[in-house]
Amino acid sequence: MKTRFLRDIEVSEVGMGCMAFSHGYGKIPDEGYSIEAIRNAYDHGCTFFDTAEVYSPNLSGIGHNERIVGKALEPFRNYVVIATKLFVDSSAVRRSGSVYHAVRDHLEASMDRLRTDMIDLYYLHRQSNISVENIAEAMGRLIDDGMIRGWGLSQVDVDIIDRAQRVTPLSAIQNIYSMVERDVEKAVAPYCLENNIGIVPFSPIASGLLSGKITPQTQFERNDDVRNWVPQLSRRNIKGNQPIVEMLKDFAEQKNATPAQILLAWMLYKYPNVVPIPGSKNKERIVENLNASQVEMTDAEFTALENALNQHKVYGHRGFGGF
Ligand SMILES: NC(=O)c1ccc[n+]([C@@H]2O[C@H](COP(=O)([O-])OP(=O)(O)OC[C@H]3O[C@@H](n4cnc5c(N)ncnc54)[C@H](OP(=O)(O)O)[C@@H]3O)[C@@H](O)[C@H]2O)c1
Repeated sequence: MKTRFLRDIEVSEVGMGCMAFSHGYGKIPDEGYSIEAIRNAYDHGCTFFDTAEVYSPNLSGIGHNERIVGKALEPFRNYVVIATKLFVDSSAVRRSGSVYHAVRDHLEASMDRLRTDMIDLYYLHRQSNISVENIAEAMGRLIDDGMIRGWGLSQVDVDIIDRAQRVTPLSAIQNIYSMVERDVEKAVAPYCLENNIGIVPFSPIASGLLSGKITPQTQFERNDDVRNWVPQLSRRNIKGNQPIVEMLKDFAEQKNATPAQILLAWMLYKYPNVVPIPGSKNKERIVENLNASQVEMTDAEFTALENALNQHKVYGHRGFGGF
């Protein structure tokens, strides 16, 4: 697969979001299947795997997902890029003695679960009552220590990014970005392009909406399923957003591709520093998404898609706030 750079970290141009093996999309597969799916993604060219310390069933407990990812990637650890995320606040700082030590304590626990002595990309998952400058300084020290290669922020606007960037240059920003969540395009993407920061869109398929497989009748699962509150996925908004889904389906048919592949190819075409991390707990759909890298889009096709998109109203908006 083609590769891209998140500052100086080289990754496959489509990565893999591993969250759903532990949290967020209902029943989780058994560990054996999840490991097989991750290894199969690697066999199909994926070298960029996204997890977080907090991804565990119902978000209760820590590390379920990191343990699976660590076990799956152990045989070829040196050939892949692992990204994980932490959350720290002032109570962790009180316990550990300093911001640096608090971040380092979280990092060491993640490294242990991920079976590695170095994390390639370490994100702050959400802002807390610790200033971003203090976090940036701690991350800079951890880079100097050789414990992480680069660092990033998630769900942030450009003012926070700029404050952090001035202290320790960022490798990537992981924000929500899809055809129905385009806030990134306003200020974050231009800033990141100018400052050599990668953009890692999460929920690029709008939690499944844009795959074309969700209808107003779709029943989401009762337990640990974010689709029950994703704004574009209320019954009324699924209906409102159908014209976008239909437009994408038509476009995909003409290109002999799937809607998920087209929307990923669209963002890859649009920004040279974008590396999406679609999430799926299904082995075949993971490969389908990775193969978006093979979809060639022409200038004319991109413009047609962009124009069509701009004509549609989007129903539901999540933005960078909240969890
Ligand atoms: N930084 C953050 O705060 C944050 C927040 C959320 C997520 N993330 C990261 O981003 C990754 C991706 O986000 P996400 O999983 O929320 O959203 P997503 O990638 O937009 O969508 C996932 C949903 O789409 C379905 N899907 C995926 N590929 C499909 C395909 N080709 N055809 C049909 N359906 C398909 C999946 O179902 P199946 O499983 O049934 O295929 C699942 O229900 C996560 O794994 C996680 O690593 C980060």
